[in-house]
Formats: sequence, C-alpha cells, structure tokens
Amino acid sequence: MKKLIIANWKMHFNLHETEIFVHKLNKLDVPANIEAVICPPFIDLQTAAKTLDSKKFKLGAQNAHQTDEGAVTGEVSAAMLRGLVDYVIVGHSERRRSFGEQDNLIADKMAAAIRNQIKPILCVGESLDDRHHDLSTRVVIDQVTANLKHLTSSEVGTISIAYEPVWAIGTGEVATPEQISPVIEAIRQTVEDLYGEDSGSSVRVLYGGSVDPESTRSIMNIEGIDGLLVGGASLIAPKFSAILEAAS
Ligand code: PGA
Repeated sequence: MKKLIIANWKMHFNLHETEIFVHKLNKLDVPANIEAVICPPFIDLQTAAKTLDSKKFKLGAQNAHQTDEGAVTGEVSAAMLRGLVDYVIVGHSERRRSFGEQDNLIADKMAAAIRNQIKPILCVGESLDDRHHDLSTRVVIDQVTANLKHLTSSEVGTISIAYEPVWAIGTGEVATPEQISPVIEAIRQTVEDLYGEDSGSSVRVLYGGSVDPESTRSIMNIEGIDGLLVGGASLIAPKFSAILEAAS
C-alpha cells in the first residue's frame, strides 16, 4: 500500500496563487511509493483539477456538508464534490473548534462522503488539557467510535484516520514518536474491536500536526503509520517536496 501524504492548504491561495503554486507542484518528483493528495479551498478545486498533473497528485476537499442538497446557504455538499475530488477531510479540529462540529455531525459527514464515493480522511485528536490529564488515548478512542458509527466494516476499511493532537497543529510543536505511537495503536485497535481484523489492518492511519521535512522520517518510522497530513509546510513547494522525499 502506498504511503498517503495529504496537503491541507486550509484558507490559503486565491485562483491566481493556485495557478502559480500548481505550476510549482507539477515540477516536483513524487516518489513511486507515495500517494500525494492536494486539498485546496473549494474555490480553487476546479482550477486545481484542470491544472494539477493527475499522474502525480490526487485532489481532496477540506470539508463537505452532510446532506446532498438543500436550502443550506454557503455550504458545499459531498454530492457536489463527487467526481471532482478523490478525498475529503472530515472533522478537522479547526472545524470542530471554530464551527462547533460535534461527533454526530461528523458521523453524518463520514456517511455522506462514503455515499458519494469520496474517501474520507477523519481527523481526531486531543487538546492540551486532555493530554495534561492523561486522556489522549481515551479522547481519540471516543471520537473514532462516535465518528464511524454509520459505517459498515467494509466502508471503514477504505477510510483514513489522521491523529492530529490539537496542541501540535500550527504551533511548530510536533508530537514525539513516544507520544504518537500509543495513540496510533489505539486507533487501529479500536477499529479492529468494532469492525473486525480486516478493517483494522486496511484502515490507513496518519499523523498530522506541524509536520516538517525534519520530523517526517522519524514519524514515518513509527509502527502502524501510513502517512501524514501536512498543513503549513504544504504551502511551500521545496518543503513539501522534501517531505514527500523523506516519507518515501
Ligand atoms: P500544520 O497543520 O501542519 O500547519 O500544523 C496540520 C493540520 O491542521 O492538518
């Protein structure tokens, strides 16, 4: 199975900047054992779809609404993204925090993605307060359990789950392999307990949070890690390139 490296652009790059950046991305080497996915803002998806070298990069969205259509001002549904993107990020901590997305809603979004043949990348992770109270694994297990509740075993086998400690996102503070490893193990074990051994071994488990070229190798060496979710460093082509190289 290829290693999955996700670039989450968050709220960066207008159309013009997207064209310029895609041009840079298309010049990069993507190692043969890496599946690289670019997740631009909604407005940039079509431009990226038309200009990204599809032999090197797949496309993902950063969010999707849980219902397929309706009177929902300002939202974009998974049904509308169908055919345009391969992946969608679901339940990112910035959406949990800033938009009040809770576990039930995230479970509905996971189902919407699957229903529309888009592979969801579920984000889970504990706050700094949770970590101080030794609750990291507990919080993550609860999120995984609640967020996957509408999916069948075979569906769970097709998804990715990114462990993103909230305190490590955008802070420059990367979690250590000693902190990451037990949570990765707990995620896979939870999937196995709830959905069986096959789902447990085929679900892809990623790490995200201040990933940079320097930390990539040691994170990728952690047992059970299948890839990375990269925010800030994915906006700088040479850094992203170095991450792809180090992860390969
Ligand atoms: P970061 O973001 O790499 O900038 O910390 C990661 C994420 O939020 O997915």
